[in-house]
Amino acid sequence: MKSFAAFVTTSALAMSAAGFSTTALALDVEAAKGLAEQNNCMQCHGLRKDKDGPSFLSTADKYRGKANAVDEIVKHMTSGKKVKLADGTQENHKVAKTIPPNDAAQLKNLAQYILSIQAK
Ligand code: HEC
Repeated sequence: MKSFAAFVTTSALAMSAAGFSTTALALDVEAAKGLAEQNNCMQCHGLRKDKDGPSFLSTADKYRGKANAVDEIVKHMTSGKKVKLADGTQENHKVAKTIPPNDAAQLKNLAQYILSIQAK
């Protein structure tokens, strides 16, 4: 009985430690790819190839290790700031659409996915 109580206490502690140690949710790669496809992100971004925009790999390299990386990328995906395409024309960057609109979890998941791209 005593050891059972100890077991329950230990696992509760382990669970709360896991919950607090990471603010990031587990990455859902399929959801991120789906969102990128629905938003035509891949029209201008290759995973590892630059198109009109930088590859997701080069964005990952740029932000890797930065504490505010996810927030910076979410900001980029939602603010519609002016960007220059490869042919020199300027347009407002695509604003990522989610269902429901501006769903922070989905936007962060996509940002985390971009950050997860590694060179092969
Ligand atoms: C019409 C082409 C186009 C589409 C569509 C597009 N982008 Fe971009 N994106 C660009 C260009 C061009 C840049 C480079 C901006 C710069 O460096 O000023 C860029 C930059 C970025 C960056 C890098 C930001 C940084 O701070 O380095 C990210 C991340 C990004 N886009 C994500 C996305 C996502 C996610 C989508 C889909 C919701 C998307 N893009 C759709 C053209 C596009």
